[in-house]
Amino acid sequence: MHLDTDLLHSLAKEHGTPLYVYNGDLVIERYRDLPLFITWPKFRALYAMKANFNAGILKAINEIGGWLDTVSPAEVIYAKRLGFPVDRMLYTANNLSEDEMHEVVGQGVLLNIGSLSRLEKFAKAYPGSNVCLRFNPEVVDGGHEKIMTGGDLTKFGILLQDVDQVKAIVAENNIKVIGLHEHTGSGLTKTDSVYQAMQNLMSIATQENFPDLEFVDFGGGFKVPYEPDEERVDYVSFGSEITRIFTEFCENYGKELYMYFEPGKYIVAEAGYMLVEVNTMKDNKGRQIAGCDSGFPQLIRPMFYESYHHIENLSNMDGEVQTYDICGNICETGDRFAEQRELPEIREGDILSIQNAGAYCYSMGGVYNMRPMPAEVLVLNGESKLVRKQLTNEDLVDQILGECSLD
Ligand SMILES: Cc1ncc(COP(=O)(O)O)c(C=O)c1O
Repeated sequence: MHLDTDLLHSLAKEHGTPLYVYNGDLVIERYRDLPLFITWPKFRALYAMKANFNAGILKAINEIGGWLDTVSPAEVIYAKRLGFPVDRMLYTANNLSEDEMHEVVGQGVLLNIGSLSRLEKFAKAYPGSNVCLRFNPEVVDGGHEKIMTGGDLTKFGILLQDVDQVKAIVAENNIKVIGLHEHTGSGLTKTDSVYQAMQNLMSIATQENFPDLEFVDFGGGFKVPYEPDEERVDYVSFGSEITRIFTEFCENYGKELYMYFEPGKYIVAEAGYMLVEVNTMKDNKGRQIAGCDSGFPQLIRPMFYESYHHIENLSNMDGEVQTYDICGNICETGDRFAEQRELPEIREGDILSIQNAGAYCYSMGGVYNMRPMPAEVLVLNGESKLVRKQLTNEDLVDQILGECSLD
């Protein structure tokens, strides 16, 4: 599953650091294995492209006929330019403006609406249209409180109790609800949360409430291990329980509907690595600090969500294990990829590989402190390709100043 250590090391030497490397073959394997676990014949995985919008990854997913969950007009435009047809996309709206609504409808993508207020505006603007509706599953779970999206303390989805108001708006404007949606959170810690959220959404998905359904979408959130000794979800039994629940639901509904999920992390998290070079070793009264050539704006999850990312010292795999803080090059104390982590001896010049950097790493990145994002290499079918280059410092400044008007 992991890319070979020597390959990663040689890519760091060839392209320089910091560098993102993705195992494209693993991405495709993950996209393809979900329907082997969830054997419902009308199953679709809509890759949540917010997790990683690398053009090479998206192109490969498009080539196997993959679907997308999109969340901004630019994501739609970008995916279209990479060849995705709009009928293989869903647009999950999040506090969208009038302009955004018209833009997305104009692009021809099916809208997934998550508030009564927006549904009303959509229905008045586009009577007779198809729509998908996002409900809040009222199940609270996720890998960190900031990524738990269910429950009535969050901004997401229409409350299940408001289904009658939904029906009134729909009936008045002749809207066809062809899909229902929920998303409980990212990195769901319990398989039961998925089953419960499915049941809660399906409790309102009756013929009486929604006679035109073509699909039910149960969002993303499939968990992958981040820590080396973390157990992997038993996807075979998980998938078979999901299939059983949905089969029973469709029997009651009286029609075989499509079942959608929107995995992001599951598809790409384990396929990514960020490679950094250690340039400064410091001993602070016994606390060993390894300073690297990239920082939290280029991989924010440890700082933002206190996420664990496993790290390997590619240059000294068999060195004597010691304890380190692995720090970045940004002027903030919290700029650490790992704190008090045991690793084989680290020396200046060593290359560290930060693992599970495929999801919400590059895509959540920025240029704080005016440092360009790293380059991205995709390894696919045994070949490594530089898909996106790193801007030079001059390029970055040109880009910023090019957006400014100083007169
Ligand atoms: C609506 C929706 N669908 C899917 C996802 C993907 O979640 P994950 O990457 O945990 O699978 C997200 C992530 O936040 C989301 O908000």
